[in-house]
Amino acid sequence: MRTDTPPTIYRKDYADPTYLVDTVEMGFDLEPSLTRVATRIFMQRNPAGSNNEIVLFGEELELVQLRLNGKVLRAADYKLAGGVLRIPGAPAKVVLEIETTTRPDRNTSLMGLYVSNGNFFTQCEAEGFRKITFFPDRPDVMAKYTVMLRADKKAFPVLLSNGNLIEEGDLPDGRHYAKWEDPFKKPSYLFALVAGNLVCQEEKYRLKSGREVLLQVWVEDGNLDKTQHAMDSLINSIRWDEERFGLELDLDRFMIVAVGDFNMGAMENKGLNIFNTKFVLANPRIATDIDFANIEAVVGHEYFHNWTGNRVTCRDWFQLSLKEGLTVFRDQEFSADMIGTDSGRAVKRIDDVRVLRQAQFPEDAGPMAHPVRPDSFVEINNFYTVTVYEKGAEVVRMYQTLLGRDGFRKGMDLYFERHDGQAVTCDDFRAAMADAGKRDLKQFERWYSQSGTPRVAAGVHYDAKSRTLELTLEQSCPATPGQKKKQPFHIPVAVGLLDSKGRDMPLRLDGEKSAAGDTTRVLELTKARQTFRFTDVAEKPVPSILRGFSAPVVLQYEYSDAELAFLMAHDSDAFNRWEAGQRLATRRLLKLTTAVQAARQSGHVVSFETVLGNQDQDSALSDALRITLRDETLDAAFRELVLTLPSETMIAEQMEVIDPHAIHIARQFMRRTLARDLRDDLLAAYKACGTPGEYSPDADASGKRALKNVALSYLVELDEEEVLTLAQKQNDEANNMTDRLAALGALTNSSAAGKAAALEGFYSEFEKEALVIDKWFTLQATARNADVNTVRTLATHPAFSLKNPNRARSLIFSFCNGNPSAFHALDGNGYAFWAEQVIALNGSNPQVAARLARSLDRWRKYTPALQEKMRHALQQVAASSNLSRDVAEVITKSLS
Ligand code: PHE
Ligand code: ZN
Repeated sequence: MRTDTPPTIYRKDYADPTYLVDTVEMGFDLEPSLTRVATRIFMQRNPAGSNNEIVLFGEELELVQLRLNGKVLRAADYKLAGGVLRIPGAPAKVVLEIETTTRPDRNTSLMGLYVSNGNFFTQCEAEGFRKITFFPDRPDVMAKYTVMLRADKKAFPVLLSNGNLIEEGDLPDGRHYAKWEDPFKKPSYLFALVAGNLVCQEEKYRLKSGREVLLQVWVEDGNLDKTQHAMDSLINSIRWDEERFGLELDLDRFMIVAVGDFNMGAMENKGLNIFNTKFVLANPRIATDIDFANIEAVVGHEYFHNWTGNRVTCRDWFQLSLKEGLTVFRDQEFSADMIGTDSGRAVKRIDDVRVLRQAQFPEDAGPMAHPVRPDSFVEINNFYTVTVYEKGAEVVRMYQTLLGRDGFRKGMDLYFERHDGQAVTCDDFRAAMADAGKRDLKQFERWYSQSGTPRVAAGVHYDAKSRTLELTLEQSCPATPGQKKKQPFHIPVAVGLLDSKGRDMPLRLDGEKSAAGDTTRVLELTKARQTFRFTDVAEKPVPSILRGFSAPVVLQYEYSDAELAFLMAHDSDAFNRWEAGQRLATRRLLKLTTAVQAARQSGHVVSFETVLGNQDQDSALSDALRITLRDETLDAAFRELVLTLPSETMIAEQMEVIDPHAIHIARQFMRRTLARDLRDDLLAAYKACGTPGEYSPDADASGKRALKNVALSYLVELDEEEVLTLAQKQNDEANNMTDRLAALGALTNSSAAGKAAALEGFYSEFEKEALVIDKWFTLQATARNADVNTVRTLATHPAFSLKNPNRARSLIFSFCNGNPSAFHALDGNGYAFWAEQVIALNGSNPQVAARLARSLDRWRKYTPALQEKMRHALQQVAASSNLSRDVAEVITKSLS
């Protein structure tokens, strides 16, 4: 382990900046091997600051010269240590001129200024601007920027930065320049430049106000056949934000640029969004339905940041969820509105909750658990988490649930009225919601300060004589790092009651004059335990609790199998209808998993099939799924969700001690059982949804493909010639990537004779499409028969590179996170591989390395034998030299 333990930064230590910046002028002489940056900063002492020391941050920079109010500073005039440059005793008004150089072509961290495929890009959030120049690189320092870019005209014909292009022209020696001015104040993390050989699709768009704006999507030459969907998504986003939130695009020009080397999904730089190619490039040939949906969501997300993040930004990085939670909520609502139907909205909701449970609940229960607004961090890059993003979005959604849609909109309006142009906190947002809605949201603060997933246990008591139903809700929250005891949360619990026919019953709470019109009621649970009494309840109902997943909690209620099947068939709340099926399946899967463990323990296992076959006589799940599958009044997309079993990771979350192999065997067994039980219905659904016409990514068409392909994936479990032929045919004839990839996956996981040829054929057909080759790697890393050796072999493939984050994720991350039973092989070879890769990535790209490091953070949850091997691998990484702050933080917290 590194000897100099990196310092922890605390939220409570926030101090106002000592100097504020009015304007920044920057000049770039762009050369891949050595770029010169001249920066002029006009700054003033901050009346709220505590002294007259100028504090600038700078990393991996060569400082050429520093001038203060025209005077060259000598080494004795300032202190430069540990990435901080301090100039004490500075005057009230300062013009600081800084000359630095950097080496973009050697920058493999992809933070600051870097080169990707010969073009220049920047990434400044969170603290990348300090790799470009010395600067008060903190989000509460907002300034206006003017940027002059100079570069070789042939190699870098396109020169882009934030805001408006105000001048361009030629220079001697084959060079040229472009000058950009951003009219809006912004924090340095929103700075961006792009220079290179790029082409664009552009469109003029008229805003509601009548103003015309220029929209551009920039890509490498040869990719213009893949930009239309991103452009459409951008236009839809602009229109949606006007309509739903009254927010207009404030610039005359809005650009999206795609880059193949990118650590994250995309970045909301003012007027110049930079995107991972994965979230821009699409056409039916190369992109799946999920890709199309993700592009729409991410384009929306980055666009919506223009108001929630850019116009109103974060005071400090502890407030990250202020912009991210809110903006994820906005992109979720956008995607839902784009589908438009109620059932489509429900499908979107289920998708979002699945992500939350699959990724955030485990985070909240592990050593990296942190509140939505963290109290401390070592490396801020490690806090771009599912907690800050997805749980943060749930927190924002709860305001809307509590205040209503109109109330929420009033809160948003007040938030912008108060804070436009400012850097603020999560408390400021909550205050705007409380004040606009005239609500006391004091207790609601605990959603920001307390980590861990709350449990809500429900109990009902029906009294036929008095026709009353008592619903008792009791909340608790497990201990998390640094937080032993929790205070009660303010939890909105949406509830409905179903009569014996499955109809919603009128709801009248004790003390109310009559039943409300609405058959879903949002109860507010604020105490540790509360009882809600419904009167006039004509018969004993089946309760439907936490409708629409009204709060990010675990609901504990002992439904019988019969009640779950009943809810699956009748609940008017589509989310709970799906949820009932998941509960039924989970219950069964856990039973089977225990049976596998018991059989293994007894040592008498002839075949698990026999043991489990005896176990699983009950057909409740098959019967319920059959009803859903046959119900053509339900969207295909919804039926697909109901048919999809909880993932192995989800099942693991339900276990006291995780046994990945037992889970895998149990789940596979259940898939085969269901395939057998539902064979004819699955085939019928496959055929009914399978008429390939012209491809469209709309909700209806993609839902049908999803149902068809989940049916196929079950059917191939039967290993029948007829079905394998169907898969082969689909692979050969598919006119879109969704069907192609599904067929290839089905073949790969089967005994089909043609599977090797199918994989090879796929590779040669799409060799030139990096994003498709990523899918090819992922498919093999997550294949059922894959093991660590498969992945080691693939890592030697000429197309593999650890340096490209998408490629690294497609193979390494997919294996470590997406193939649990192979990764957790008993011999520990999966973990050894993981350690090697974390160490290798640590040297080139700490941010990506730290993400991979998280794959073992929950090691204490596993069986003792696996734990031991995991700890060994963690210690191996801990002991390696030159650990980055990023990786060190994750490993230290995992082992502590
Ligand atoms: N702010 C980006 C988003 O959520 C994510 C991001 C963070 C991108 C850090 C790059 C670096 O839209
Ligand atoms: Zn974001």
